[in-house]
Amino acid sequence: MEDLDLVLSDGKSELNSCSDSSTLDTFFAKYLSKKGKVSSLMGYMKEISKENKAAFGMKVNAIKNELNAAYEEKKAYFEKLALNKKLQEETIDISLPGREVTPGRTNPYYLIIDEVTDIFLDMGYEVKEGRDVETDEYNFELLNVPVDHPARDMQDTFYFDSSLLLRTQTSAAQAHTMKEKAIKTPIKIICPGKAYRRDDDDMTHSHQFAQIEGLVVDKNISIANLKATLELFAKKMFGEKRQIRLRSSYFPFTEPSVEVDVSCFSCNGKGCALCKNTGWIEILGAGMVNPKVLEMCGYDPEVWSGFAFGVGVERVAMLRYGIDDIRRFYQNDVRFLSPFKGK
Ligand code: PHE
Repeated sequence: MEDLDLVLSDGKSELNSCSDSSTLDTFFAKYLSKKGKVSSLMGYMKEISKENKAAFGMKVNAIKNELNAAYEEKKAYFEKLALNKKLQEETIDISLPGREVTPGRTNPYYLIIDEVTDIFLDMGYEVKEGRDVETDEYNFELLNVPVDHPARDMQDTFYFDSSLLLRTQTSAAQAHTMKEKAIKTPIKIICPGKAYRRDDDDMTHSHQFAQIEGLVVDKNISIANLKATLELFAKKMFGEKRQIRLRSSYFPFTEPSVEVDVSCFSCNGKGCALCKNTGWIEILGAGMVNPKVLEMCGYDPEVWSGFAFGVGVERVAMLRYGIDDIRRFYQNDVRFLSPFKGK
C-alpha cells in the first residue's frame, strides 16, 4: 500500500513538471499506458492476500483515475495554449495599409467599338470578322484599285510579298462579304478591326489603327438611306441635337463618295477650338458602292445597289474623350487607361 502511495505522489510530481505536450506524452507512456507503472501495479495482485485484494484493486483504480484526470486536464491546457499561440500568429493586422489592386481597364478605343457596334446591331446589322492579313486582291483590286492606281499612294502599304499585305482598310471586308455569298442576297454588316499603313507616327497618325466598316447591299438602296443611317448613328453617338453634312469626296470603291461631318458637339456648331471654328467635325468616309465593285464581287449593278462607310475608331474616341494624341491608345500607360471602365 505504501508503494502505491509512492507511485501516486511520483506520478503527480512528474506530471507537474511537464512543461509541454511532448513531456506530457512521455509521462503518459511511463504511467498510464498499458505497459505503464499503474497497469504494472496489477502484477502485484497475486502477492496480495485474499482479504486485501479488493482494497488493493480499488486503490490502483483510484490512482489510475486520479492521474488520468490530472493528465487530461494538463493535456487540455497545453492544447489551449497551442491554439492561442496559433491564433495569435495568424491574426491579421487590420491597421496595416492594404496592398493596392490595379484592375485591368478597357482601352477606350474598344469602348468606342462596343458602342458603335451596339448602335448598328440595334439597326439590324450583323458583325463580320475580317482578317488583318489580306491579299492585294481583296484589299485593293476588288475595291476598284488596280495595280498602279494612284489611290494606292494614299494608303502606303505593309507588304509581305507582291500579293500578301496587312490590310490598309477594313473595306477589304466588303469584298469578302459580297464574294463569299454563293447566292446573292441582301447584306447588312459592320466589320470592326485593325488596319495598317506605313505612316510616320505622330499626334494624329499611327501605323496601326482601328476602323469600323459598314456595308449595306439590297435592291433600291439610295444615298438617302446612307444619309438617314449616318444621321441616326451621329445622333446616337454624339447626341440627339447633332446634324450631319455630306461633302463630296473620292474613294475608288464608292461613287459618289462623301466625307461626313457632324455638327460640333462641343460648341453646338457655333465654332470652337475642337471644330477649328468651322462648327463641323469630320467623322467618317462613305459612299454608294461603286457599280464596278458590285460587279466584280458578283452582284449585278442593274439589280443591286448599296452604300458603305468607314469610321475611324481612334478619331471618334479622341473626340469623345478629349484625347490629344493617337499614340496614347497604344502605349498602355495605366495613368491614361485608369479612368476608362468597360461594361
Ligand atoms: N476605306 C476608307 C478609308 O480607309 C473609308 C471608306 C470606307 C470610304 C467605306 C468609303 C466607304 O479611308
